[in-house]
Amino acid sequence: MQWIAGLASKNKYKMDDFYKKILDNNKKWVESTLSRDPNYFKNLAQGQTPPLLWIGCSDSRVPANEIIGAKSGEVFVHRNIANMVVHSDMNMLSVLDYAVNVLKVKHVIVCGHYGCGGILAAMKNESIGIIDNWIRHIKDIYRLHKKGLDSIENETERFNKFVEFNVIEQVFDLAKTSIVQSAWRNGQELSLHGWVYGLNSGFVTDLNVNFSSDEDLDEVYQLKFSE
Ligand code: CO
Repeated sequence: MQWIAGLASKNKYKMDDFYKKILDNNKKWVESTLSRDPNYFKNLAQGQTPPLLWIGCSDSRVPANEIIGAKSGEVFVHRNIANMVVHSDMNMLSVLDYAVNVLKVKHVIVCGHYGCGGILAAMKNESIGIIDNWIRHIKDIYRLHKKGLDSIENETERFNKFVEFNVIEQVFDLAKTSIVQSAWRNGQELSLHGWVYGLNSGFVTDLNVNFSSDEDLDEVYQLKFSE
């Protein structure tokens, strides 16, 4: 019964102040939410029909719901380092498939942010561990836009432009997925958008890279589906 002893020792875990505070915050949040609407959780438990899938950065300063004033139930969220749409990433594909084919979201927003550590790492050469392999995808974007980026002398401006190019490419990568193209082919209403969030201002900028069909994709990416 050693494992039970192991569990018991875990129960002796000494909570630090932050850990205590977040558990306490949860209790207070439930109380105040119920005081405003006694059926709040009962209603949410019925199911979800969010109109939006958000693909954002894991950065702790870019909380999806908060930025856009979305309530619980309004936004389906996927976050990873530097808001990437890597078409062999089973996690992203599963979220996208569920969002598009089951939840039938109407919008997908890829939201990057200025000051993104993942983008900065991709501009540099230091190895920082296994994450190098993830950052590689971002370096590929740099290579794709090398001419434009290298021509910007100011480093901050180049960094900001790289953040924007990355978002734009991720929206294109979304449009190239079989999931999104198949939805369009079936006449499903689905729009893709690219945003950048300003950590300094709180405002998002719409990069005006909007897709609601595959006609703006290079022909080689346009999939044909058999009936
Ligand atoms: Co980031």
